[in-house]
Amino acid sequence: MHYFVENMKSLTFIAVLVALTVYNDAASIQEEAYLFTEEGFVYREDIGMYQKGEVRLGDYLFHDHTCHVPGIPNAVQLEDVVYLGNSTTRITGLRMAQVPGTPGGAHIGALGRHILNVRIRSVPGAGIFTRLQFWGHYTDWV
Ligand SMILES: *[C@@H]1O[C@H](CO)[C@@H](O)[C@H](O)[C@H]1NC(C)=O
Repeated sequence: MHYFVENMKSLTFIAVLVALTVYNDAASIQEEAYLFTEEGFVYREDIGMYQKGEVRLGDYLFHDHTCHVPGIPNAVQLEDVVYLGNSTTRITGLRMAQVPGTPGGAHIGALGRHILNVRIRSVPGAGIFTRLQFWGHYTDWV
């Protein structure tokens, strides 16, 4: 898991990595159908990325994260990326790069809050090579 905590004053990030590997079983094979079926997660030709929620003019890119998790034969890889802002942070949009030839799934937590958890899952044997962007605004910025 990558856990990003925004320090209120310095805007520095604390990152902790926990790699999670779930070994393959019959059930996980069926989840190939899970390819970006996340509701409201749509591919946008204009930016070449999937997007859920809204990114408006003047919004702030809170975090830009690159996932690089090599595949392991027969194993499903999971990667959790969490962004935690302060009390006035509103994460309204999540963007994810298209993953060529690497189908998998993404589960995105509730938008409109100060924290957002995204879980990415590979199909068996594949790695996770993508990029995530957390967008939004601070309610106390005018
Ligand atoms: C949250 O962080 C932003 C950016 O540093 C800052 O402008 C805002 O005032 C902070 N909010 C609080 C409640 O500290």
